[in-house]
Amino acid sequence: MIPFYVAGRPASGTESLTVRHPFDTEIVGETSNATPAQVEEALAAAAAAAGPASALPASARAGALDEISVRIKRRAEEFSELITAENGKPLKWARAEVARAVSTFRWAAEEARRFSGELQRLDTDPAAAGRIALVRRVPRGPVLGIAPFNFPLNLVAHKVAPALAVGAPIIVKPAPATPLTALLLGEIVSRLDLPAGTFSVLPVPNERMAALVADPRLPVVSFTGSGPVGAQIRAAVPGKHVTLELGGNAAALVCEDWDDLDFAAQRIATFSNYQAGQSCIAVQRVFVHRSHLAAFTPKLVAAVEALRAGDPRDPLTDVGPVIDSRAAARIEEWIGEAVTKGGRVLTGGTRSGTTVAPTVLTDVPADARVCAEEVFGPVLVLTAVDSDEAGFAAIDDSAFGLQAGVFTRRIDLAFAAHRRLRVGGVIIGDVPSFRADQMPYGGVKASGSGREGVASAMDDYTEPRVMVLTGLTL
Ligand code: SIN
Repeated sequence: MIPFYVAGRPASGTESLTVRHPFDTEIVGETSNATPAQVEEALAAAAAAAGPASALPASARAGALDEISVRIKRRAEEFSELITAENGKPLKWARAEVARAVSTFRWAAEEARRFSGELQRLDTDPAAAGRIALVRRVPRGPVLGIAPFNFPLNLVAHKVAPALAVGAPIIVKPAPATPLTALLLGEIVSRLDLPAGTFSVLPVPNERMAALVADPRLPVVSFTGSGPVGAQIRAAVPGKHVTLELGGNAAALVCEDWDDLDFAAQRIATFSNYQAGQSCIAVQRVFVHRSHLAAFTPKLVAAVEALRAGDPRDPLTDVGPVIDSRAAARIEEWIGEAVTKGGRVLTGGTRSGTTVAPTVLTDVPADARVCAEEVFGPVLVLTAVDSDEAGFAAIDDSAFGLQAGVFTRRIDLAFAAHRRLRVGGVIIGDVPSFRADQMPYGGVKASGSGREGVASAMDDYTEPRVMVLTGLTL
């Protein structure tokens, strides 16, 4: 039985949790759910650790984060194989995720060293002559980090690393389908010399999370997952600081000036299907200037058809299974609905078990679920637009607003897209799926609130506290 970690110590519960491979349902490993008493122990320890953790010198926080980064790198292949086994993403994407987590922790170490606060002069008014303010950010308190299944390591890293960087204890609740990677990370963190209670990782069934979310000892809740659950959390704890990363139906726009249609087709095909489309910024809606449609469509279809679907353990596989058969059946149903509403399948449209064939649809009305909701599967919808401006409007015609990709080389159009699009990030000259782990990442509208990205999450987990010094000659 693989242990979880209560206040840094390995523990097991009484109710076992079996993790199965999404491709063939083979057993990957066995852990257990934390009991209510173990949850209480982690909570009490986190509350008790808040003072000592925030008092840790930067050298200790940064040193621990550097050490985590180094130890993940040392065990990169073990992490990659485990991610592939429990999540089903092809090995090459699992390796990419591990490399990103190494960098996320390393960035957090660097940010921890820089995390100094700022000086603000106050003698701008005669009444405050001789006064200056030191503005430092202090942890709001222990964090509850609720992680999704689609990046079992790096989206856990994006909760843990900033918490350790600012000196906030954290309790991580991994996704029930993919807890083992978080537990392997737990093994690494538990061996570090941090105040007891700084870190717990607890498998807890989703339906038992309400009490943990509501517990006043965890004033910060950082959730990545589905919109309905995010909305429930926000409504349940209006007095808490809640960060929600809730996904989207990301769009790419190929503008009239874009001359490298091969590149655009290649990138869109790859990032519509990476991790079988199970990324909140996977390309789902593709808008192409009508002048390119005839040339672009066969290139896109060919690039999608060149992707190899199959067993994610095979290093040559590009597209693996989705997380479970329920998800696969839902995606198949949404494709069927699109076709019923007049959509045409240009390639794909089928499924075998948990593997959905990489699919390109066109002529789909905007109210079909493959356009309007988050597919989280290897499906893209191609639509022609009559102008770049119409493309911007089409991107914004969405309940979501996470990231958008705009293929243009015109700087004025880049600025127009940045100004105009209601999203958290605009990627110029590439797909919306680009993310560097240090950059602010998050959405507007139904895509959530708050930002991850190491420094942004550090801001989120802390609040400013001012000290005014008086009687100075400045
Ligand atoms: C997500 O699915 O929101 C995370 C995407 C990423 O980290 O690349």
